[in-house]
Amino acid sequence: MTPAGAGLRLIAHRGASGYAPENTLASFRKCLDMGASSIEFDVQQTSDHRLVIVHDLNLKRLAGVRRALRTYPYAELSGLDVGRWFGRQYLGERVPLLEQLFDLVESRGSGAELQLEIKNGRTPYAGIEKRALDLVSARPSLSGRVVYSSFDHAALKRLRSLSASARIGYLAGSMERRASAIKDASALGCESLHLSLGRADRTWVEACHAANLRVFVYTVNEAADCRRLEEMGVDAVFTNFPDVLSKR
Ligand code: G3P
Ligand code: CA
Repeated sequence: MTPAGAGLRLIAHRGASGYAPENTLASFRKCLDMGASSIEFDVQQTSDHRLVIVHDLNLKRLAGVRRALRTYPYAELSGLDVGRWFGRQYLGERVPLLEQLFDLVESRGSGAELQLEIKNGRTPYAGIEKRALDLVSARPSLSGRVVYSSFDHAALKRLRSLSASARIGYLAGSMERRASAIKDASALGCESLHLSLGRADRTWVEACHAANLRVFVYTVNEAADCRRLEEMGVDAVFTNFPDVLSKR
């Protein structure tokens, strides 16, 4: 873990999702090609309890099917094309299993940090925290470099009760007050607090740092925002264009 104030880090948001369809192996390959040192992705669960990497709770935007992800068994989900919407060259991209991302990272010999966001809807995915922890602990190469986060703070509590050592990031809700977010995050033993670009300011940064929480901001695609946040003392940003911002 780098100390707060050690310079702004870049986290590839849903992979290099400015260049390839988000949360696909194509997007993850691309950010690894760019030398990403941290990769963010969204994890959900199929009806047969496989952990998959998808942002939306239904497949309308990505595959043109208005159906909830949670109702799909993996065999059926894996038949959907989630690349075509982005561009014809990505025709045939599939929803990856969490293990497939781990295989890719291991096969590339990458030491990237993995920012694993649990994407629960109104009804949480039963058992998702334990399954994620188990898949990670089956890979010694990933030890200590997965950071779990979620807007669903009950999921973070379950995760903490399952693992005292898990690294956790606290995703602050859009209406959540600063003092209660920091209190909650500290009580959960989080190492970072993640804020939207619209909410980030110096007061948040100072209050988080005083509580020993690093501040990560999403989603930052403009170099000018990046410079402003760096100046403010923000520790990391989630970006769809990791290569562009690295040249800021
Ligand atoms: O974790 C930061 C960011 O990914 C949260 O927002 O909607 O892109 O998952 P979203
Ligand atoms: Ca996310």
